[in-house]
Amino acid sequence: PEASLTRAESLIATIPDFPEPGILFRDITPLLADAAAMRAVIDAMIAPFSGTFDVVAGVEARGFVLAGAVAVAAGVGTVPIRKAGKLPRPAASVSYDLEYGQATIEMADDLPAGSRVLLVDDVLATGGTLLAGRQLLGTLGYATAGVAVLMELAELNGRAVCGDDVHAVFQV
Ligand code: PRP
Ligand code: MG
Repeated sequence: PEASLTRAESLIATIPDFPEPGILFRDITPLLADAAAMRAVIDAMIAPFSGTFDVVAGVEARGFVLAGAVAVAAGVGTVPIRKAGKLPRPAASVSYDLEYGQATIEMADDLPAGSRVLLVDDVLATGGTLLAGRQLLGTLGYATAGVAVLMELAELNGRAVCGDDVHAVFQV
């Protein structure tokens, strides 16, 4: 598994000045397109939380790709945390600042009360998105079983914002 993860990490492309000058964009799409790399990272995201969650919540948009895969691999379902205006029955919404721009996310409340939710996204940057995700889950009465991301941009210190218990497969 270690060799597969090393290879998986090599499939993440770093793109300077996207989507705006000064931002170093981490493009995980080559990794996602590779079967062995995808399998390795999904297993690594689940490992610390095995058996501790009832459902996986993915944050739109890049989190969706990982959340569905994590859910199937772990034998549970998945629920979307969506950008504002997309859900027909949003039960709560939280606004937050991004490294570039601002966003609002929303979620429905169709899960059984007290559900243990694994929160999943692709990248932990400033931590605003995952903090907002945690706040959404808490507002709706769900327990955050854990937070798993593919990659953490350590220099932005997002952990200080969204919680030190985030599990990141890769740190850059
Ligand atoms: C990106 C990324 C994470 C978030 C991390 O999403 O996919 O969700 O930023 O940043 P943060 O830790 O500073 O909050 P973005 O909202 O840009 O859009 P996308 O997932 O819809 O592409
Ligand atoms: Mg995102």
